[in-house]
Amino acid sequence: MRRIQIDDIAPGMRLARSLYYQYGGVMLAAGAALDERSIARLREFGYRSLYIHDTDLDDVICHDYIDEQARQKITHHVTTLYDHLREETRNILDPADIAEASGQELREKMEDRRFQRAFERARVPDTFLEAVEKIMESILSDREMALCVGTIKTVNTFLYDHSLEVAIHAAILAKHLGFPRGEIRDIVLGSMLHDIGHIFLPEDLVKRKTPPTESEMETLRQHTVLGYYLLKERSDISLLSAHVAYQHHERQDGAGYPRGLTGRNRIIWKQEALGSGTIHRFAEVVAVPDFYDELTSDLPYRKAVPPDEAAQAVREAAGTGLNDEVVQAFLSYLPVFPIGTSVVVTTGKFAGWRGVVVGLDRSDLSRPQVRLLYDPTHRLKKPVNVNLLEDDETSVRADWK
Ligand SMILES: [Fe+2]
Ligand SMILES: [Fe+2]
Repeated sequence: MRRIQIDDIAPGMRLARSLYYQYGGVMLAAGAALDERSIARLREFGYRSLYIHDTDLDDVICHDYIDEQARQKITHHVTTLYDHLREETRNILDPADIAEASGQELREKMEDRRFQRAFERARVPDTFLEAVEKIMESILSDREMALCVGTIKTVNTFLYDHSLEVAIHAAILAKHLGFPRGEIRDIVLGSMLHDIGHIFLPEDLVKRKTPPTESEMETLRQHTVLGYYLLKERSDISLLSAHVAYQHHERQDGAGYPRGLTGRNRIIWKQEALGSGTIHRFAEVVAVPDFYDELTSDLPYRKAVPPDEAAQAVREAAGTGLNDEVVQAFLSYLPVFPIGTSVVVTTGKFAGWRGVVVGLDRSDLSRPQVRLLYDPTHRLKKPVNVNLLEDDETSVRADWK
């Protein structure tokens, strides 16, 4: 399996992972051969890249926390919850008004009893909470770290896939940092809902094809406040989970939003009162996978950043933007080159050759085992395996174009 940009996909290539419709059901099963028509359709659905089957990589196994079907089910619950909410609240909170509204006005609208009742009518929480338990269970009982490439998101499903991906990572991170079980649950729930405020924003803004302008950014920033006011009154969601939605874009140096809170670059276990001007540790944990997952996702106006560059960006954001203690924990288990990543050799006797990461050793997650499939001009008849742990001269970078 290797990841290929949609522009480089040729008829006859076979899918390595099944693709699903947003509301469940298989769109194309793993193993299906692609033709011109299906490629055009996938492009329309918002796919920018796909995992393609490669017989030279048949033996590569990849361990994931949640199997594809369970993942699909969970995404379906999130989608249903968000859709209900969007429909139920449209006549109370008009997306077109949001850009102009002050924080106080938004608050009044969201605290409107009709609005809160609409949220209660959405009634997904049971299935949704079960989904949260499922993520917890598989992560807390799993001793192996997942080392493979992430799911591919489309424009239409970004919000849901992103929420799940952030929740999975936040759970691993919280476990790693020693958070107690009850707190991990609130963190997972908060992660699943951290961007829920987006559903109230104008659709053409969320799906825009160009980077946001400063005034569009202002509107986008409202998603934190909208999400918070929506969640904070609910008895089945802890206030701290609501604060994840409120604070996940706050930054250590105070340059974040919406309130410019600050952090201490370590986990404060005995938290000061909410409202004391510091970021809550739950939000600091969620902020790191949120930052990483957004970078490594294709967005309508830019391609995904390769995983090695994204890991570097996280490292650089530590201290000023992201909580340093949380970042160090994240980088201690994050594979810089997840299994399945296409790479190009940059130094050593294979410089210029291309291949795929096929294995990782936990002793050094930045030195993967690579299978080279192409020399600078041809596909190799027989692939060459190189273990970077045993070969100091060879280095690679992700090859995502
Ligand atoms: Fe966000
Ligand atoms: Fe996010």
